[in-house]
Amino acid sequence: MTRQTHTVDLRLPAGGYPIHVSAGGLGGLATVLSPWAGVPSALVTDRNVDRHHGPAADAALEAAGVPFTRFVLEPGEGTKSFGQLQALLEGLLAAGVPRDGVVVALGGGVIGDLAALAASLLRRGVACVQVPTTLLAQVDSAIGGKTAINSAAGKNLVGTFHQPRAVFAATGVLATLPGEELRAGMGEVVKYALLDGEPLATEIESLSAGILARDPGALAAVVSRCAAIKARIVEQDVGEAGRRRLLNLGHTVGHAVERATGYGALRHGEAVAIGLVAASVLSVELGLAPAALVPRVRALLGGLELPVCAPPLRRSAVLDALAQDKKASADTLRWVLLEAAGRPLVRPEPLSRAGEFVDILAREGVLRWGSP
Ligand code: GLY
Repeated sequence: MTRQTHTVDLRLPAGGYPIHVSAGGLGGLATVLSPWAGVPSALVTDRNVDRHHGPAADAALEAAGVPFTRFVLEPGEGTKSFGQLQALLEGLLAAGVPRDGVVVALGGGVIGDLAALAASLLRRGVACVQVPTTLLAQVDSAIGGKTAINSAAGKNLVGTFHQPRAVFAATGVLATLPGEELRAGMGEVVKYALLDGEPLATEIESLSAGILARDPGALAAVVSRCAAIKARIVEQDVGEAGRRRLLNLGHTVGHAVERATGYGALRHGEAVAIGLVAASVLSVELGLAPAALVPRVRALLGGLELPVCAPPLRRSAVLDALAQDKKASADTLRWVLLEAAGRPLVRPEPLSRAGEFVDILAREGVLRWGSP
């Protein structure tokens, strides 16, 4: 590993793993993959990522002496499907990937979720190494072992927990990420700042110009801070029975806005940004946080060119989407709110209050009613 690499260890009773954050490219990946030298393995990626980073990933596998079969899938959320999962599993079996092989997931959240799910099912579980190539995957989805595909009933409803054997997050690869994707990933970064506290929020503000200019050093500083926060939370609650739910800050309204817009109108990180403003508004409204929280959250997001209000939506569509929230148990929604930056809490509220809450958000300009 190069001197530019910072490693966060995620420790679990069943065996933890390193999260390597590098300000460079994929060069250091060979060392991570060396335990699989001589064992037939697989590289799973999508067409866009393959064009930019496939050759460097191939070179790392070759340098590690890992014989591998490549699976290059279609980019986009549609790939997280039963059909693609089946095709990938059949392909991995046909390629003879054995129980002690490794599935290397090179891509964003879609590839990471699908490839890790396939790895968890193949021969009842083979190793997976996550090589996230989007900011959102580097700070969030590649860490913590959640795998998923979508079903007709909703997103991410079919999946497993299957921890990776290592994560290799190289911020140099973010140079090829479209600008809007990079900005959207910052929505999750701001979420971590609000979970962790004002020092990280201030640090992110001071790094924002470097982040938006894709300075790999600034990005590596941010990614390693977020990875460490996520690692500590996952260590305490790997199965999401308690503290890990805090990672859903901004996601209740965020997911509802994504659903109500039919997905595609907003990137996930943009929807999370809107959800973070919503969480801060509700926190103030419920008397949990001082009023100054809302302008602080708006300023943080605005400085990163992230949206702070949703496009016009139908009120009924937002309420339907909230009712389908996968975190809703029976008739309760688990809102993640803030007493202040660094002091999050989970607040269960009856679903029957959702109408009151969305009306507050409309009054405060976070949601707007109209035809989507
Ligand atoms: N993305 C939230 C979690 O991993 O729990």
